[in-house]
Amino acid sequence: MASSAVLARAAALRQEIERHNHAYYVLDAPTIPDAEYDRLFRELQALEAEHPEIVTSDSPTQRVGGRPLDAFPKVRHAVAMLSIRTETDTEASGARAFDARVRKELGLSDADPQVEYNAELKFDGLAVNLRYEGGVLVAAATRGDGETGEEVTQNVRTVHAIPLRLHTDAPPEVLEVRGEVFMRRDDFERYNAKQREAGKPTLVNPRNGAAGSIRQLDPKLAAQRPLSFFAYGLGEVLGWTHAPATHSATLDALEKLGVPVCPERRVCRGADELVAFHAEIAARRDTLPFDIDGVVYKVNRFDLQRELGFVTREPRWAVAHKYPAQEQLTVVEAIEVQVGRTGALTPVARLAPVFVGGVTVTNATLHNQDEIDRKDVRVGDTVIVRRAGDVIPEVVAVVIDRRPEPAPPRFDILQSYPACPECGSHVVRLEDEAAVRCTGGLYCPAQRKQALLHFAGRRAMDIEGLGDKLVDQLVDRGLVHTPADVYGLDLETLAGLDRMAEKSAANLLAAIDASKTTTLARFIFALGIRNVGEATAKDLARHFGSLDKLIAAKEDDLMAVRDVGPIVAQSIAQFFGEPHNLDVVRKLRDAGVNWAESAGVQQSAGILTGKTLVLTGTLPTLTREAAKDKIEAAGGKVAGSVSKKTDYVVAGVEAGSKLAKAQELGVAILDEAGLLALLEPHDAPGQRTLDF
Ligand code: IVH
Repeated sequence: MASSAVLARAAALRQEIERHNHAYYVLDAPTIPDAEYDRLFRELQALEAEHPEIVTSDSPTQRVGGRPLDAFPKVRHAVAMLSIRTETDTEASGARAFDARVRKELGLSDADPQVEYNAELKFDGLAVNLRYEGGVLVAAATRGDGETGEEVTQNVRTVHAIPLRLHTDAPPEVLEVRGEVFMRRDDFERYNAKQREAGKPTLVNPRNGAAGSIRQLDPKLAAQRPLSFFAYGLGEVLGWTHAPATHSATLDALEKLGVPVCPERRVCRGADELVAFHAEIAARRDTLPFDIDGVVYKVNRFDLQRELGFVTREPRWAVAHKYPAQEQLTVVEAIEVQVGRTGALTPVARLAPVFVGGVTVTNATLHNQDEIDRKDVRVGDTVIVRRAGDVIPEVVAVVIDRRPEPAPPRFDILQSYPACPECGSHVVRLEDEAAVRCTGGLYCPAQRKQALLHFAGRRAMDIEGLGDKLVDQLVDRGLVHTPADVYGLDLETLAGLDRMAEKSAANLLAAIDASKTTTLARFIFALGIRNVGEATAKDLARHFGSLDKLIAAKEDDLMAVRDVGPIVAQSIAQFFGEPHNLDVVRKLRDAGVNWAESAGVQQSAGILTGKTLVLTGTLPTLTREAAKDKIEAAGGKVAGSVSKKTDYVVAGVEAGSKLAKAQELGVAILDEAGLLALLEPHDAPGQRTLDF
């Protein structure tokens, strides 16, 4: 038998753990570090394992879930779970119509005062009834048909926001709390990302996620789904002294008992205030952390609620005032691609027009080939389209049951678009990249503006005054197709553009002329080759010394350049393999763009060539950038995370998990002095890197 000291310790631990749970999951204000929480939890688990007889149903250890069930037991609700009348008029008139009905039923005239309502959100999840007896959660059930539901106690216990015991010393004999189990959007995204990574099935939307988890027969699986809960009403209540007389006071009281209640609620007097609430929440709908499909108005006073009563299963005292749906079904009529400013071909579903999220949608992004494959979207499919706020509409999922027979073929971007629809250049998908890209670069009109801005940039050709407003005009008016055309512009043409006067046009011409004399590194960088940044451009220029040698280089030759791996080498080879690009280069040279060439300097390998280092914490003298520069100058790579492939971890003050990981994996650990010592031979005069 457990001693009273053990019992007391277990009770104290339970209370403390649940207090932290509440702070974390309900108040969103964690009180202790996770490690400390884990320690308390393990202590309680150990106590209970040693003394199984002391386990209580409200112990936080019982949230984790027991054995899988064969089926959920049916339970009859002590008080029926009603549904709610929906006002389909999504305009303000919907709220006015409800207020008018209530006033009429109550026999109020225009001279009578405003009716008081509680306005709240309509959560999009699954309704549940939580039964507390003597303050302890003893059962939880779904709504079912309103009379009989399914007992889902095990799964509901896994929802950390739901208290296993009410926060009071004088609990009602029975208190049934009704509310919605739902999934926050960020939890949904995070869960899906994790599933995707593990190659496991993803959830279609947060609502299905919530409903599916609660109906999951294995509570261990349910426990892995991040669910939340908000209370919105009561079921059976027995022995509640000082029970509130209004709905709003009830929600306040529930909140004090530790039950999560959504803070977005307001007591409103009359229709105008309901209309204002509806409009305010509509404006903020997309910034709420969870999905709602409307707001709910309830007559606040319980005595008036009783007076109003019900029609069939719907109370006359409540109404759901909807917002336009953010998800709808429609049919994919075609799949096409759009070429973005970086040359990425983004697949777009052309849809049968559908009204969703307040507008008519005819296109939805499919992101990339991986997303098409994952969702298996095909032409002819019926799909769920989502449009929330100003976000680009997207295809959420295919309704497989409605796929036409025989099934249409899978869609493959490369197969359907071997050439860029904008410029006809080759289309490629690089290893390790999600996007399929047009190799047209400067030649492709879709990429032209972006390419021109990059070309004229300060660190590239440095053409002062050639900014985005001008580039827009030059491209839109067909005056510039490739950067080579910039060198053919004359004073008259430039002065004729919007916001350009004779003087500014003359200045721009001078800047264009001055840019002709440049360096090979700047020129290579200006070409905007994918994966070739400023540093790589410098390395390439130094290594090859001449543009023609660079153009002629094979992938293997390119990989001999410091820091150039297979991906960069492939990008460069592809760029110069495209005749359009060679044409632009030739025209630029013909226009007088010039630089000094050299024989090229084939680097001897640096001391850190082929090594990967990770920096963590604050170093005593070097900034992170400076340390990175030094490592790269010695041929090393700096990575963001520690793995088995890491050669050294350089740790400074307050190094955190990366250091721990390095120790765990047995990776060599250096401090700043150690790093500098390692680099020393490289700084010897003979091996100093050249400044370009
Ligand atoms: S009150 C007597 N309030 O909407 C009215 N319901 O059919 C009982 N819901 O299944 C419901 N948010 O799951 C109420 N703030 C809210 C709600 C809400 C969502 C759901 C509930 C129910 C359905 C109504």
